[in-house]
Amino acid sequence: MPSSPPPADRPELFSWEFAANPYPAYAWLREHAPVHWTTLPSGVEAWLVTRYADARQALADARLSKNPAQHSGQAHRSGRVGIPGERNAELMTHLLNIDPPDHTRLRRLVSKAFTPRRVAEFEPRVRELTDRLIDGFAGRGEADLIHEFAFPLPIYAICDLLGVPAEDQDDFRDWAGMMIRHQGGPRGGVARAVKRMRTYLADLIHRKRADLGEDLISGLIRASDHGEHLTENEAAAMAFILLFAGFETTVNLIGNGLYALLTHPAQRARLQSALAAGDTELLGTAVEELLRYDGPVELATWRFATEPLTLAGQQIAVGDPVLVVLAGADRDPARFDRPDVLDLARRDNPHLGFGHGIHYCIGAPLARLEAQDAIGEILQRLPDLQLAAAPEDLRWRGGLIMRGLRQLPVRFTAE
Ligand code: HEM
Repeated sequence: MPSSPPPADRPELFSWEFAANPYPAYAWLREHAPVHWTTLPSGVEAWLVTRYADARQALADARLSKNPAQHSGQAHRSGRVGIPGERNAELMTHLLNIDPPDHTRLRRLVSKAFTPRRVAEFEPRVRELTDRLIDGFAGRGEADLIHEFAFPLPIYAICDLLGVPAEDQDDFRDWAGMMIRHQGGPRGGVARAVKRMRTYLADLIHRKRADLGEDLISGLIRASDHGEHLTENEAAAMAFILLFAGFETTVNLIGNGLYALLTHPAQRARLQSALAAGDTELLGTAVEELLRYDGPVELATWRFATEPLTLAGQQIAVGDPVLVVLAGADRDPARFDRPDVLDLARRDNPHLGFGHGIHYCIGAPLARLEAQDAIGEILQRLPDLQLAAAPEDLRWRGGLIMRGLRQLPVRFTAE
């Protein structure tokens, strides 16, 4: 296995301080060890890629496979590199775990159903959900914006879009809560939640096949390409990955984004006055900047070398896991002007928050819509919103791929 003897002042990765603010450690890695072999908290060893140019290259490199079967080590067999419960073969056939040509075929089919137009038509519904959630706490003068706002919005939105009946959506909320709460802890709870969701979705797809509607699941069943359709298993795995990939990410974009605004009063005031004047342009660049500055996905999902390759002078062997550190790349001074400054009006901002290449986030239009609605609406309805805890007292969730707050307590004048 490769080794990179660390200089003495190497920052400690994956510590408590690191979870609260990993950016200084990534700055150090960019400078001293841009492609760095490390041991993750799970015991799995992997390369971390932290510079923007290398990250972009790695995300688009066909020699880096997404299929965990390409990994020569024990990590996959012991179930430690993927979504919990993924050893369940039926769940393996989702976009984030496969390469062309299977990926090309599945992605084309899902793109026919999950279109930007479908997302745009969904906007009034997202606004309604946002308002309903704010109504739930606006009269109280205080709230936890993760628990009461950022967490439920994406789960209800995706359930609605997929066509999960309203009376079953609270089950999804509970399963999703279990998945988030047990992250990094005992695996039984997560695996159980994944299994329940999976069983529910398989059953729903079966029922919808007999009675197609206008929802996304019906769209997935209907989608065809040169006479090809998704099988029932593929449609269930697809619905599951849309939920799984689109849920915690969006929670974190809204949560991290609001936290960044609450701790940068001048930037927040600028956005608030633009919104009050009916100008929504700044909201668009603001959400992109929040994705760059403190995005939800700290590390892109796993990749494995299928051929020996060299990245920034490092030899990567066949089977080695490679983790592209989006949070490091998006603060790289070689690409971004004053990268550690939050500038909501930033124009030159080709961030990697949604990835890059063939696995670029298929849910990006929905995520943008939800974040713009959520952040825009809450700043307008609760204009004197402020943090009700010292930033150093807030706890960050210790997942590996994602970066997000456990809670975001706020105070405001009750409506
Ligand atoms: C892929 C980020 C929301 C569905 C990705 C990737 C990133 C990402 C970085 C690429 C991962 C890699 O290459 O390893 C985000 C962020 C979101 C978000 C930051 C919210 C702010 C969503 C939503 C959905 C979604 C709302 C669906 C409803 C997917 C899917 C893929 C993906 C299915 C896999 C695409 C493929 O492999 O072809 N996302 N995502 N994401 N995302 Fe998102």
